[in-house]
Parts: sequence; C-alpha cells; structure tokens
Amino acid sequence: MVKLNNYEDRFAALLLAWYNENRRDLPWRGVGDPYKIWVSEIILQQTRVSQGHDYFLRFMERFPRVEDLAAASEDEVLKCWQGLGYYSRARNLHAAARQVVEGGGFPRTYEGIRRLKGVGDYTAAAIASFAFGLRHAVVDGNVYRVLARYFGVDSPIDTGQGKKYFARLAEELLPADKYVADYNQAVMDFGAMQCVPKGPKCGQCPLCESCLAFRDGKVQDLPVKSKALRVTERYLHYMYIQAGGEVALFRREADDIWKGLYEPFLVETAEPCEPGTVLDSDLVPPSVRDACTKKTLLCTGVRHQLTHRTLICDFYKLEMPDKPADFGREVHWAKAGELSGFAFPRLVAMLLERFGLS
Ligand code: ADE
Repeated sequence: MVKLNNYEDRFAALLLAWYNENRRDLPWRGVGDPYKIWVSEIILQQTRVSQGHDYFLRFMERFPRVEDLAAASEDEVLKCWQGLGYYSRARNLHAAARQVVEGGGFPRTYEGIRRLKGVGDYTAAAIASFAFGLRHAVVDGNVYRVLARYFGVDSPIDTGQGKKYFARLAEELLPADKYVADYNQAVMDFGAMQCVPKGPKCGQCPLCESCLAFRDGKVQDLPVKSKALRVTERYLHYMYIQAGGEVALFRREADDIWKGLYEPFLVETAEPCEPGTVLDSDLVPPSVRDACTKKTLLCTGVRHQLTHRTLICDFYKLEMPDKPADFGREVHWAKAGELSGFAFPRLVAMLLERFGLS
C-alpha cells in the first residue's frame, strides 16, 4: 500500500480547491433527490457527460418521479433511451424502479442501494455519498487514472488484486464527512477534465508538484492494464421487408445488449459473405424467399464499433405483395414511414434514416 503520511489530506485538499474553481454545473448536482442522482449515474455509466446531459433532462421530463418510471412500459423506457446504447441499463433501471416502489421508497443505506438491479459498487457509492452524504468512495475509470498517476501506482486496474488495492486506497483518501460528496464529484471531474487519458494538462495542474507520475515521467504509462481489449467481428445482414404498406420488425429477445429493441429481419453469420448470397441461403425462411418479388442491396460493409465488437453490416430491402406465412420468429408489422415509435439500436436507426425508411 502507498505510504500516505499526510499525503492523503493534501491530495483531498488540493482536489477540493481545484473543484471549487472548476466544477461543472450539472443538472443532477446538488439536487439531493436520490432518484435523480441514480438516473444520472446510470446514464453516465457508459456515456460522456456531454451526451448524457440532454438524455437526462428528457428522461426526467418524461419520468419525473420513480413512480412514473415504475408505471411505464419497457418499450416506453427503451424509446427514451434510444441512441444511448447499453440498453440493459434502461431495462435494469425500469425493473429497479418497480423494486423501489414496491419496497416503499428509495433505500437510504449503501447496502440497500447496492441491491437495486444494475447498481454496482461504483454507482452505490455515488448515490450514497451524493444523496445521503454517506462515507463511500467512488472508483471509476477516472478515479483509477487520477490515483494511479498521483500516487504512482502500477498495479493493473483490471485484476482482482489491483481493484482491491485501488478500492482501499480510495477509501483511505476520503476527507472529513461533510466533504465526502464534493470530494467524490471532484475526483471524477478532475479525471474527466484535467487528468484526461490522452494529453493531460500537467503544465497547468495544481497537483503536479506532488504527482509521482509527473515527477517520474510516467503520466502516459499509467494506469496499467494487464490485458488489451479483444475486439471481435460480427457480420449482420439486415433485411427491411416490406409487404404492401407494412414493414416487418422483430423485438430482440436474446439476453444481450440490444434486448427489447426492435430491428428489421436479421441474419447473422460468423464469416463475411459475398453481398447477396445470404438472401438465397437457408438462413432466410423459404416463405420469405418465395414471397419476395424485388430485392435491393442498399449498402454493404457498413462498420459499427461497439466496445468489444465490430459489427459489419449489409442492408437489403425486400419487397413482396403479400406477407410471408412464417418467419420462424414473432413479427410486428408497422406502417412504412411510421417507425419513429419503436426503439432501435443506433446502427439500425442510422440505416433507416440514411435510406429514408424511418
Ligand atoms: N460521471 C459519472 N458520474 C458523474 C457525475 N455525477 N458527474 C460527472 N461525471 C460523472
């Protein structure tokens, strides 16, 4: 463990002074309402503040109280989340809102908050400290970076041992109770605005005199990760199937990141295929192939980057006078040109918009 000596007080004091001058005025700050804080933290789990800000305002307008969220349908919640990605966040938020209402109100202890669906250690600490002033340290990517650099820690942040080390260090660094909430906000803002991953502003940093990574010329080498992110490729072949004035949509039921969202007919392959070949393969049900009178390849090889996957997508339009008898999965027929009520993954929304199909 880093030898702290009074160093920790100095760290917290410097950060709080920096925060006083540089804090961002954000709509979920200083509100004291655990529901609002919770929603903001779930949005910000995988989303930058600049993108999450307007989503938060829209979400609050649509679901101002936890009871409103609990009473909504999953489709409505996902629609409000459309474009933010990582949709399990919205599904969990919705399920947890029902948990909160059934339980008679928002939990007021760290352990109670931590039991809400979709709430991990970081989010529980953020809600507990921001809403109730409880003494829990937040540890997210920003915090790992700031602590690793300032204290010159080269333990990997993606191993159990490394995580434990940082969690303990973060708890030891907490200042007096009345500053805990501000301190947690401060360290996150400092990581997001000053001690950024690439090109940190060390030249104008009030902490640089006591920053060990700065002293040792290691700012760009910290934090350390033990394994590089492995990105795999998946090949998606979307078919916008139009029969008369209606379009076939499918709700994703598989327990993956797009669960509950809608999409056109999808065939997925492990390997790339020559454009067009998939249409005549067994991957498309015979009733669809037989009914189809016009096939158009709208685009091919569109790349869409997710954190662990590169999606490579071909997009077809299939036209048929009559609806096929069977897709082998449940179909939702929607009026062509009136698809705006459905929540789509961002890739699908972009494709529909690009070809004037939404
Ligand atoms: N990222 C995660 N939570 C945040 C918050 N409360 N303020 C700013 N950025 C954040």
